[in-house]
Amino acid sequence: MAAFPRLGGVGAAYLQQQLDAFADGTRKNAIMQPIAQGLTPQQRIQVAAYFSSLPKPAAVQDGAARTPSDTGAWLATRGRWDEGIPACAQCHGPGGVGVGENFPPLAGQPAGYLADQLKAWQSGARHPGPLGLMESIARKLKPADVQAVSDYYAGLASKAAAATAAAGRARAGGSTP
Ligand code: HEC
Repeated sequence: MAAFPRLGGVGAAYLQQQLDAFADGTRKNAIMQPIAQGLTPQQRIQVAAYFSSLPKPAAVQDGAARTPSDTGAWLATRGRWDEGIPACAQCHGPGGVGVGENFPPLAGQPAGYLADQLKAWQSGARHPGPLGLMESIARKLKPADVQAVSDYYAGLASKAAAATAAAGRARAGGSTP
């Protein structure tokens, strides 16, 4: 079930646009298209508002020192300017938490889902998005970049879970391994 995204706490306008895109076929997905087409425009607004109102997972700030060979983290936090690739964090926020209504979170999404979206832009199976921003970025990523940056953002969520669990153990007075 790795390729199903989380929806809780994602911006309502963004979710509604995606449902509209599934419904009109500009974003292609065998599971989501019939579901979105079965909803009225009003129901798409209501479903988007509902998921947007659910809590989002805790954010992780990634302050670790990085080198360019650390491909996922480097692309996420620095980009690769000689190839015209901006840092993902510039639009998706520090730690990939998402910014406002139009820049969705990346942190905590399954790696398979993130990679599928980047590949969908590369192949034209997903609507280019506002100003074609993501399509042009995705087309500059090599297959190894797609995998590395997807693994990086998926991994931030497990770090958050581990930190929460460690804090819980410390509060319980248990010994830490
Ligand atoms: C200039 C701004 C900008 C930058 C930089 C940027 N993105 Fe995006 N990204 C967007 C926008 C806007 C969307 C929403 C697109 C849409 O509505 O279809 C998006 C959506 C996405 C999605 C889809 C999320 C979902 O929930 O389906 C993924 C995956 C993604 N970006 C990955 C990346 C990665 C990886 C990088 C860095 C290599 C990156 N983005 C850099 C603007 C940006």
